[in-house]
Amino acid sequence: MTVKLTNPIFEKLGMRYPIVQGGMAWAGTGKLAGSVSEAGGLGIIGTGYWHADQVRKEIRRARAITDRPFGVNVMLMSRHIREVFDVVIEEGVQVVATGAGDPSPFIDELHAHGISVIPVVPSVGLARMMEKKGVDAVVAEGMESGGHIGSLSTMTIVPQVVGAVDIPVIAAGGIADGRGAAAAVMLGASGIQMGTRFLASEESEVHENFKRAVIKAKDIDTVVTGELLGSRARVLKTKMSKNYIKQERFEITKPKPDADAVEELENGSLRRAVVDGNKETGAFMAGQVSGMITELKPVAQILEETWQEASDLLEKY
Ligand SMILES: Cc1cc2nc3c(=O)[nH]c(=O)nc-3n(C[C@H](O)[C@H](O)[C@H](O)COP(=O)(O)O)c2cc1C
Repeated sequence: MTVKLTNPIFEKLGMRYPIVQGGMAWAGTGKLAGSVSEAGGLGIIGTGYWHADQVRKEIRRARAITDRPFGVNVMLMSRHIREVFDVVIEEGVQVVATGAGDPSPFIDELHAHGISVIPVVPSVGLARMMEKKGVDAVVAEGMESGGHIGSLSTMTIVPQVVGAVDIPVIAAGGIADGRGAAAAVMLGASGIQMGTRFLASEESEVHENFKRAVIKAKDIDTVVTGELLGSRARVLKTKMSKNYIKQERFEITKPKPDADAVEELENGSLRRAVVDGNKETGAFMAGQVSGMITELKPVAQILEETWQEASDLLEKY
């Protein structure tokens, strides 16, 4: 027996598990997203700063794997944002998730094409604003998570967002198994989102060095870069991230980098980790749960085990 959560979007999408694979720039490929959706979760392609043609290619790779709905995570700060939305609409994608930024200008247009909109929010204020603008659900993400982060923990942001809005809240950040999933449900979430757990899956296409680094990592092996430059990201401790933090402290008196420099830093360094597995220059974005992940698993097993364990715990207590 597994527990069934009430979540209108998940019902509309026909998902077997209330589990979303969070969009991850470079790492959330069509293969990973398609495999998660095919196995009964909701897979999301991460598009980061990609051009429209790269986005279209990954959407088609996902579609070759599954007929089930999957989503696209759009980086609202990307310069290619308009063309990416055009591709998402043309290709008939059913869900758009958004990371950094305010998706308000695009919500009505996406809804007019039957696309559900699910922004990630790091605070109650943004969750309330998104509800007013008519989004279908929000992802309340704590700073335990891999990638760009806010300042609240999952334990504190989820119940506060749940208390503030009437739309479904999906909990993210620090969840890698059924214990975390059950805890999120107890906090009021009607779904969970995992990122780091899916990096270390068989279907994940991140470089072997990246997968190995997640599996080897201990509880205290992540650090936050960008504290002083305003774009905080949780990454694995490597020579690169430790140097970055040192440099950041030293460089704080210099003028802020321009948009091109930030794009190169964020997009370029993540690509060097995901595609090249380069420990010298790559940013291995991963969450605090890395310390709990000790083996590669197929996505179907991750979904099944996570929800079975969560259900057993929820029924027991
Ligand atoms: C390598 C990596 C890249 C990510 N890129 C994005 C992104 O482009 N957009 C976004 O909204 N979230 C991004 N995230 C966050 C995930 O979608 C997800 O919310 C997060 O990983 C959940 O926390 P967890 O890592 O503790 O499971 C990224 C996470 C990782 C690990």
